Amino acid sequence: MSSQKEQWSSNFGFLMATIASAVGLGSIWKFPYLVGSNGGSAFIIIYTILIILIGILGLSVENSVGRFGGTNVVDSYAKIHPKAKWLGTIALLGAFLVFLIYSVLGGWVLHYLFKLGTFQLQNVATSTYFSSFMQSDEALIWQILFTLATMWIVGQGVAKGIEKYSTVMNILLFALIILVAIRGLSLPNAKAGIDFLLKPDPSAFSNPKIWLTATGQALFSLSLGMGIMVTYGSYVPKQSKILKSSLIVSFSTLIMAILMGFAIFPALFAMGFSPEGGAGLLFIVLPEVFAKMSGGTIFAVAFFVATFFAAITSAVSIIEPIVSYLMHKFNLSRKKATISLTLITLVLNTPIALAHGRFSGWTINGKNLFNTLDFLTDSILLPLNTLIVVILAGWFWKKRGFLTELSNQHSLKLPYPTVLLWIVRILIPLTILIIVGVTFYPIIVSAK
Ligand code: PFF
Repeated sequence: MSSQKEQWSSNFGFLMATIASAVGLGSIWKFPYLVGSNGGSAFIIIYTILIILIGILGLSVENSVGRFGGTNVVDSYAKIHPKAKWLGTIALLGAFLVFLIYSVLGGWVLHYLFKLGTFQLQNVATSTYFSSFMQSDEALIWQILFTLATMWIVGQGVAKGIEKYSTVMNILLFALIILVAIRGLSLPNAKAGIDFLLKPDPSAFSNPKIWLTATGQALFSLSLGMGIMVTYGSYVPKQSKILKSSLIVSFSTLIMAILMGFAIFPALFAMGFSPEGGAGLLFIVLPEVFAKMSGGTIFAVAFFVATFFAAITSAVSIIEPIVSYLMHKFNLSRKKATISLTLITLVLNTPIALAHGRFSGWTINGKNLFNTLDFLTDSILLPLNTLIVVILAGWFWKKRGFLTELSNQHSLKLPYPTVLLWIVRILIPLTILIIVGVTFYPIIVSAK
């Protein structure tokens, strides 16, 4: 079992790469909408509580397992328990399947960026443009370009590729989103959007569904359950303070997501649109909003560049665990591992990129391949893998090994270590089991 040869060049670089992985399409199109439709600022408070209760420690667990293992996710799991090796492969499978979806979305973003950058805002800002593009073969070409760009960054290495690009793109993303938010806030009638985002609905606190939605979002937005943070942890120097960096990463992700809300909703309401979630918001409503704004092209380009940076730095983090595994397993150089993975991905990705068009006839339970994979990863593999890693670290790591790693072999003083351990052992697994139960209970009952 060989160990990692590469490391982050600095603690700052590690933080930047980790934040860049966390802040992705989940923060851009999922979070703002979830806030608006689940009790406004009440949702932000609930999400914050969950980030504190389970997100920070979930992230610490993955980083600690990775640093302790000092190798790819499969062998790191095996170091904690020899029989856990195959569980690491489930994390890798999850990461691979997430990438198949993420790269299609990334391709769409890249296509819009190209259109906006070539002054075609008016062409894309129609309600039918998106669906006809999504169904066309062109979607495949843009997905291929996005995949190649992602692989190219990963191929450059941990410090010279992932860390370097994540740092630059993260900083630019932050600046661009602030720019777009200021523009939106300066529009007349922006206040309706601020109210939508921030007006607290006190009944949200007693609504279990909202708590569950926020838990799912907390796990997703911190890139947990895909071996990503285990792999990123394996490049962390022994003296780094993992708990502290998890805290910084979690709060930065939260702040970025809230900023995203301010970049979207004030402008949306000011222009007389009503909010919706997901792809429709990003690819249909927002171009129409920008098209109505003076200087719209500039702000649309700024917004889509930011979205592209958020998407590609997350995509890079989804690929890295697999590349790291291939390098160790088959004793390959980084370049060879990345090229092999690129070829496999491009073949398997074709039906997913064309799932809304040519391959729309390929369905499982009435869902096309894209939506099937989305459900499989989001509702099954992500919670399952997070459950596996916390149970492994909490119950199977000998001599309270998680606390030993987190405290840098007892050289750091942890706040309430026993409480921390029991959160990992009981609270996080229980919360995940409840979410999965609530998701599947109605499906199982209705199938009977
Ligand atoms: N955390 C990122 C996002 O919210 O978009 C990227 C991500 C990575 C999402 C891995 C999901 C995942 F399984």
